[in-house]
Amino acid sequence: MLVPMAELLAAAQREGYAAGAFNTYNLEITRAIVRAAEAQQAPLIVQVGSSALRYAGREALTALVLAEAQRSPVPVAVHLDHSAKLDEIRWCVEQGFTSVMIDGSALPLAENIALTREAVAIARPHGVTVEAELGSIVGEEDRAAEREAVGLTSPAQAEQFVQATAVDALAVAVGNVHGFYKGEPKLDTARLDEIHRRVPVPLVLHGASGLSDAAIQRSIQGGVRKFNVNTELRVALFTALADTLPRIHAHYDVPGLFTPAIAAMQAVVEEKLQLFGSAGKA
Ligand code: 13P
Repeated sequence: MLVPMAELLAAAQREGYAAGAFNTYNLEITRAIVRAAEAQQAPLIVQVGSSALRYAGREALTALVLAEAQRSPVPVAVHLDHSAKLDEIRWCVEQGFTSVMIDGSALPLAENIALTREAVAIARPHGVTVEAELGSIVGEEDRAAEREAVGLTSPAQAEQFVQATAVDALAVAVGNVHGFYKGEPKLDTARLDEIHRRVPVPLVLHGASGLSDAAIQRSIQGGVRKFNVNTELRVALFTALADTLPRIHAHYDVPGLFTPAIAAMQAVVEEKLQLFGSAGKA
């Protein structure tokens, strides 16, 4: 069933676990994510970024993801990931997304606050959750590369930002990056704890691919209630396709090519849902 993301995060906050938010671009990835949540009886966030909407066609991808969420017996929030455009936020709100992320993190603080307040004014009357970002989480959303963290979130600014914007969830930069980590990831847990102490809303950790189990568990202790995972799903997809294609190429069998890839992505999502503590919480 389709639910507001805030509802899902509030349950995670009450019970001390985190929800998994997985990026989709197409039918196969969406199938894998939703099947995993159903198999694990886990509440779920399916998210699409601006580039995925452009790639798949925004009407088609939106209809697909919303239909899967509505059909599913587990609670599913449908979320717009990393949008800097109010027009896009408005469009997604009108289509029935239950959550949007306004990303003004590249702007100076006052401008980020102003932009985020506008997004809240668009979304809140429709009961749509708003996530915002403070500090810069480097790396591209759709490509994997090695990254080093820069521009960590200031706890004092985080407090001021949440008060001034009334956002529902805050994405923080505490050493997390999109894509592959350069060496062993080092999260600044003291900074995360201080943000958690000052900020009452659920925290979001982008770039959860490649974090150790211990780092994930420590982040949940530090108030993270939503982990974003993209790269690890794409690695599973590409690995399975590369493995299957040479074996079945001569048959031109479409389900035969994609079915093992869906299974491989589903396995990654199921493992993450267990790690985040959301398995069995639906
Ligand atoms: P990864 O690709 O590193 O998993 O990050 C995903 C993400 O944060 C999407 O917003």
